[in-house]
Amino acid sequence: SAEELDARIRAAKETLGDRLVILGHFYQRDEVVRHADFVGDSFQLANAALTRPDAEAVVFCGVHFMAETADILSRPEQAVILPNLAAGCSMADMADIDTVEQCWAELEELYGTAPDASGKVPVIPVTYMNSSAALKGFCGDHGGIVCTSSNAETVLRWAFERAHRVLFFPDQHLGRNTAKAMGIGLESMPMWDPRKPLGGNDAQSLRDAKVLLWHGFCSVHKRFTVAQIEKARAEHPGVRVVVHPECPMPVVDAADEAGSTDYIRKAVEAAPAGTTFAIGTEINLVNRLAAEHPEHTIFCLDPVVCPCSTMYRIHPGYLAWVLEGLVEGRVENRITVDAEVAVGARVALERMLAARP
Ligand code: 13P
Ligand code: SF4
Repeated sequence: SAEELDARIRAAKETLGDRLVILGHFYQRDEVVRHADFVGDSFQLANAALTRPDAEAVVFCGVHFMAETADILSRPEQAVILPNLAAGCSMADMADIDTVEQCWAELEELYGTAPDASGKVPVIPVTYMNSSAALKGFCGDHGGIVCTSSNAETVLRWAFERAHRVLFFPDQHLGRNTAKAMGIGLESMPMWDPRKPLGGNDAQSLRDAKVLLWHGFCSVHKRFTVAQIEKARAEHPGVRVVVHPECPMPVVDAADEAGSTDYIRKAVEAAPAGTTFAIGTEINLVNRLAAEHPEHTIFCLDPVVCPCSTMYRIHPGYLAWVLEGLVEGRVENRITVDAEVAVGARVALERMLAARP
């Protein structure tokens, strides 16, 4: 039963003490989040992995790319554990290293590689945190950087200090929304089509590009629509509409604000009592905010419940299983990033951590 699982997790945690740290993303279900030592957005959790170098085991209640990041940033002796190995991210899977390398070769052919008189190179790769370690490694090896939804604009500014253009993957929406907020026109953000060779992509639009977008998207955030926002405004005059920047551009434009999961949490916490919020992000976070803030009215923009199905794969049963394994001296579901890939990926991640204002 749920109570039994809860008791088993508590008992194992107690036995492991400081040998263990549990990290939990905001989208995790409540039965998991309540056991986490740190709960945060993906940027905060990358930092949290660094704050407990003494812990032997980092149990990551989130998705695969987050656990990979924790492994890259943690000490080699620390074991990073993903309670269910099937907890991936469909967006991260939309950019694979072979296709990115093919794209890069074509861009190098088009733009060349030499810096101009100002020292800027033709193009720099920027990967969203929601990507495999191989792509972070690619960015590190090619002068590029990682971003999250909480620092995408800072990171793009960093990139434009060094390059004329950015190749941004995998999330087209975060790329487009961020570039637009920086004043870059839609005509300067073509989408690279990996199914076509360079000749099939319009070479002129690529030449004029400021940000080249990849075709990836989040299937959870893609569900939000402008019609839902219009309905919320009609039914709740004065409603504050806050969405995640993985939502499509028309949705971000129609909302009052867009920001990372931690931005959304802070917006709710800072609001005067009695505020009504319509939120466009994953349902576990929205429901938790609603439960924690009875002084506000908080609901999800999408009337049909929309959990992230892969985040949801971290069931408390798996958490109990990996913790009890640790108690018995077994390390289950360890995530280990290939050492060669990790070198470049760490470079790209450290550039991001340093770029934060
Ligand atoms: P945050 O960086 O805002 O936590 O987002 C991670 C994510 O996967 C959103 O879908
Ligand atoms: Fe990936 Fe979307 Fe789930 Fe975030 S909400 S982990 S981007 S599938």
